[in-house]
Amino acid sequence: MSLDEKIGQMTQADQMFLKSLDDIENYHLGSLLSGGDSDPKSGNDLGSWTDLYDNYQSRALKTRLRIPLLYGIDAVHGHNNVLGSVVFPHNIGLGCTRNAELVERAARITAEEVRATGINWAFAPCLTVPQDIRWGRTYEGFSESPDVVKSLGSAAVRGFQGSALDRPLSVLACAKHFAGDGGTSFGTGMPKSRGERYPLDQGDTRVDEATLRKIHLAGYLPAIQAGVGSIMPSYSSWNGAKCSGNARLLTEILKKELGFEGFLISDYNALDQLPGSRKEQIAQSINAGMDMVMVPEKYREFFNTLKDAVNEGQVPVARIDDAVLRILRVKVAMGLMDRTRSPLADRRLHKSFGSAEHRAVARECVRQSIVVLKNDNHVLPLAKTVHLHVAGKNADNIGNQCGGWTITWQGKSGNVIQGTTILSAIRAAAGSSARITYSEDGGGAADAKIGIAIIGERPYAEFQGDRTDLTLAAEDVAVVNRLKSSGIPVIAVLVSGRPLLIDAILGKADAVVAAWLPGTEGAGVADVLFGGHKPVGRLSFTWPRGDSSSFARGNPGYQTLFPFGHGL
Ligand code: GLC
Repeated sequence: MSLDEKIGQMTQADQMFLKSLDDIENYHLGSLLSGGDSDPKSGNDLGSWTDLYDNYQSRALKTRLRIPLLYGIDAVHGHNNVLGSVVFPHNIGLGCTRNAELVERAARITAEEVRATGINWAFAPCLTVPQDIRWGRTYEGFSESPDVVKSLGSAAVRGFQGSALDRPLSVLACAKHFAGDGGTSFGTGMPKSRGERYPLDQGDTRVDEATLRKIHLAGYLPAIQAGVGSIMPSYSSWNGAKCSGNARLLTEILKKELGFEGFLISDYNALDQLPGSRKEQIAQSINAGMDMVMVPEKYREFFNTLKDAVNEGQVPVARIDDAVLRILRVKVAMGLMDRTRSPLADRRLHKSFGSAEHRAVARECVRQSIVVLKNDNHVLPLAKTVHLHVAGKNADNIGNQCGGWTITWQGKSGNVIQGTTILSAIRAAAGSSARITYSEDGGGAADAKIGIAIIGERPYAEFQGDRTDLTLAAEDVAVVNRLKSSGIPVIAVLVSGRPLLIDAILGKADAVVAAWLPGTEGAGVADVLFGGHKPVGRLSFTWPRGDSSSFARGNPGYQTLFPFGHGL
């Protein structure tokens, strides 16, 4: 391999920013990604995604070395960019199942749906251990507990990568974000503008090494033992040093001590946050142990700058060779270098994409993720023969129940993807004998027997979900009050990416249920509400009381409303 071809393997561009299809050859690109909103021009359907992948992979097969591309995408709760895919509960819900076998099955199905488009790399599982639920990425974490993350994170790796990486349905997994992404101090988040910062995302994790190891490294050892082939260093810093340039973290601890033999992929333009010039940033990160760099738009500049750094002796050729060896070792393990096999999509998988069988597993995940926080007067389970009045902004909104990373990066309210809303599921479960009425604001419930307020959060992702105030939205409190004023028992169902401050409704709701972000299979919620399946979910995050003076776990100001592990 020439130096150009080696550096090309270390370069990952975003397909939407490719200046020419021939850049795959001109820059010997080893990988492409679709970032949050990087979609086929012809639409988000299965066929368009498959054509997009095949088009790029075919071009890569025409280069001198014909090394196939790794194509990466954020399939973090199903193949969530693609219309018709099965969208699973986000990790916070899966964490409440405590069911490693089920999490593995969910990842297995996600891998199969990802491979249906030909794509061979998922930027998942997220092994974050969020310690402050005001963080916008809390829902991407299984739990505040390292033990839960250990168990479920490695299960997800096994699910994605299957019995061996070279199996046709296996997808390369990516444990992220190494390390301490969920432990940043409040107020240290990424710069917003003119000196202002987001509260937590991409901030500074100020802990000693023992704490970093105990909490934030916990999930990585089992993931490495499960054979995870890639790991993504975090945007965040550890005691003021950016992870993406930290040799102690990336090489001494992760590669040498923990024995990680796969490759490190940077986060999206993460090197831009390192100190110094472009060349100094690149040299620092590569020398620290970064193997592949996610440079969505500036891939040509990266290629040329790294080449200069090598030619000027700032980056040893030995480091380049080690990075390329790691990347090619994974491609060999994936069967990508086997000339007797085609890396193009196997379109026979289209028939199981979004299938009833896949949806049944997602429905089971939803059922087991539901946590009943309160149930006075046995108001749950619901009878199927009474008049129920359903209300709230999250009752009939598939976009809200899927949350972020769904079709678009941030997610969106409304009818964004095929699925079953909780209201539709309640109607289907209740059957003809019952009477189900609905109003978003909770009005018109007078002659109903029970009111159900399905409330919580609207979609968000990453720093756009950072909040300083976790109080339930006024509109949601109003819905509960309106139902209550009808003189009927009220059940509150929270559809949210994290625990919220619910003190304002706690005394008014006879029952409170946490449904997290259940995804497309809302029927799983109705299964528990009507008692078809006993609730088994247990909190994977402590639930705070509204008078807490801090929401940082372990902080004396944190007042607990429901403890970790709670669930009726
Ligand atoms: C994003 C996220 C990371 C994701 C990557 C590619 O900014 O930090 O989790 O995998 O960029 O979309």
